[in-house]
Amino acid sequence: MTSLEEQSSPDRLAGIDPAFVFDYVPYDDVLPREDPASTDAVLGVSAPEDPDALGPGRRWTTWYDVEPLCRGPEPRPAWVVTSQGAIDTELGVLKTGKEADAFLLERADPHDPGQQCILVAKRYRSAEHRTFHRSATYTEGRGTKRSRDQRALDRKSTWGRVVATAEWATAEWDALVRCRQLGLPVPYPVQVEGTEILMEWIRVEGADGPETAPRLAQTRPSPGLLASYFEQLREAMHTMTQAGWVHGDLSAYNLLAADDRLVIIDLPQMIDLVGHPTGPDLLLRDCTNVCRWFEARGLAVDPQDLFADLMAHAF
Ligand SMILES: Nc1ncnc2c1ncn2[C@@H]1O[C@H](COP(=O)(O)OP(=O)(O)O)[C@@H](O)[C@H]1O
Ligand SMILES: [Mg+2]
Repeated sequence: MTSLEEQSSPDRLAGIDPAFVFDYVPYDDVLPREDPASTDAVLGVSAPEDPDALGPGRRWTTWYDVEPLCRGPEPRPAWVVTSQGAIDTELGVLKTGKEADAFLLERADPHDPGQQCILVAKRYRSAEHRTFHRSATYTEGRGTKRSRDQRALDRKSTWGRVVATAEWATAEWDALVRCRQLGLPVPYPVQVEGTEILMEWIRVEGADGPETAPRLAQTRPSPGLLASYFEQLREAMHTMTQAGWVHGDLSAYNLLAADDRLVIIDLPQMIDLVGHPTGPDLLLRDCTNVCRWFEARGLAVDPQDLFADLMAHAF
């Protein structure tokens, strides 16, 4: 192979209109990777190119493996680690679920103490390992861009199952990005790659340092905080319905209580309020699920009132 210098030497360019000559910098190489030798010294590994070389539960950051659209929206929070020398380390399982499992992952650059964050990795399971209880109801109104994928889904082929898994990750990714852009309290979506979403870890300060924020269902807030949580939720639901969206699986299990702030999670099934055949039904169900919890904790709220109020301002 000829080197870049040879290829662009004056001889080779003779006779070519200068308008067609430009300096070429491969996109992926704009930022050079850390010097492998120095990384070796720190980590005691021999071949950084080998994915196994970092040892089990570790990998090079996947930030540069994905296209810009698979990274979170601007403004990007300062804590998001973008160093090319960063290493992802599995910290353990947060929760296993029916369709997906949530893990904690550290992304950190061993050479730069400022580049360290803990993320939640939500990984969708392949169809064989899951009960697909929410599929049909939600996907009805959803079009698939690539017809080959749609045919595969219809045939339920192996490829179809892979597409279906990644589709749930893509659907949740799109929902997180949309909600974030609407200013809703959702975890910042860091990146999506195939069946894996990396997002902000919603945490609270515990006795021994930061810990995962509890689900609202696990908490017993004071009357004041309870009322504030409901107000935050009502406002978020307003913003969502005004934008034409319904969470579709809202409950005290998919809300995290981050001290005095409520954060909405678990959005793969977010659907179109008007375009989806059961949009209003799902909105009413969301209202019922959340109101029931607040009522049980002593706040006088009514699902029908909430639903009517949301629908009245939706259009
Ligand atoms: N961004 C996050 N920050 C903190 N905890 C999270 C986050 N995302 C998920 N979790 C935890 O993982 C659990 C499962 O995530 P969820 O998105 O609800 O998936 P599913 O219910 O489909 O398994 C949540 O109940 C919550 O405890
Ligand atoms: Mg959930």
